[in-house]
Amino acid sequence: MSDEELGPLTRLVHGGRRREWRGKLVNVPVERTSTVLFDNLAELRGAYPPRDGSYSYGRNGTATQWALCDALTALEPGAAGTRLFPSGAAAVAMALISVLGPGDELLMVDSAYAPSRFFCEGELKRLGVTTRYYHPLITPEQLRDLVGPHSRALFLESPGSLTFEVQDVPGLAAAAKELGLVTLLDNSCATSLFFPAIARGVDLSITACTKYIGGHSDVMLGAVTASPAAWEALNRAVRQWGTAVSPDDAWLALRGLRTLDVRLRRHEQNALEVGRWLAEQPRVQRVLHPALPSCPGHEHFARDFAGSTGLFAIVLDGTTAARDAFIERLTLFGIGWSWGGYESLASPVDLTGLRSVGQPPEGPTVRLHIGLEDPADLIADLAQALA
Ligand SMILES: Cc1ncc(COP(=O)(O)O)c(C=O)c1O
Repeated sequence: MSDEELGPLTRLVHGGRRREWRGKLVNVPVERTSTVLFDNLAELRGAYPPRDGSYSYGRNGTATQWALCDALTALEPGAAGTRLFPSGAAAVAMALISVLGPGDELLMVDSAYAPSRFFCEGELKRLGVTTRYYHPLITPEQLRDLVGPHSRALFLESPGSLTFEVQDVPGLAAAAKELGLVTLLDNSCATSLFFPAIARGVDLSITACTKYIGGHSDVMLGAVTASPAAWEALNRAVRQWGTAVSPDDAWLALRGLRTLDVRLRRHEQNALEVGRWLAEQPRVQRVLHPALPSCPGHEHFARDFAGSTGLFAIVLDGTTAARDAFIERLTLFGIGWSWGGYESLASPVDLTGLRSVGQPPEGPTVRLHIGLEDPADLIADLAQALA
């Protein structure tokens, strides 16, 4: 059976566990090095240009990083390969750098993760790239009208950060291809398990492995998986910018990856139970959860995704002060950024300066990450805080 004939769960378990990397062990070990010692000069010279599976120098990885790249690539049928980055934000930045140059225009989704937006307005601008924001629910036809003579790339994030709009990724990617645009997707929330992006026309599928892949709130890591068309440029950028990740961090992400499906399924189940309960509470105006019809773009979710996760937002009635008091009264939800770990979190949503087009939801908003606790306990906690 070829890897692509195996089901995604089998690929999760077996991806990257090559015999030559793990020996007789179940797991590929942490291999730390800077220098690689060669037997002779011919071997040294033969190690370049570097390739996964062939030791050359620490920055180009060891079996630990190659195994994680392999396992992530296995989740994206049709992909050419994966590169790792020290954080999800670095993965977004390097993916953009790999395809854009001076004079290019980037079409950027308005609901992008805030630091992705800041990168466009800061570093990309400094490098001579302009950014135009578009509404996340734009149709492929509207994309055709939007594209300009210098448009070079289309960046998507679905569901969107904080407001959770689900985009028509396959439709937009197909239109982008016809228009000659490279398509990038921040796929951190669904992960390649619930949304294999390359098979749906995306060129660069970006994952903040800090979140669900790591899954335990103890590692910072990012990954970009590339289509055959985008692979060479990604590799060039990685080599020339010199990014590298620690094998210890890659190992933690690999360890998390093996249980991604069971964790995500439980996050999904818990979040749906909590989300449906919240939707019935009089002080909750709206639940922005991709799997519930009240979420903008829900029809795309229902068509394209293999599952939802633990992340969503609620729009409350009342003041922002009451919203803040609600968050502070929660006892089982940590107050903190990020998501994707086993634990529940709550954070206030402030969209000031983060939207350029369209109307974000009105009302004090809270982002919730529903962890792996008993949902009845989380509901009881939310009930006392709402009261
Ligand atoms: C959608 C999204 N993309 C990227 C990132 C960046 O990941 P990291 O925190 O690993 O830099 C985050 C972090 O919250 C995120 O929410």
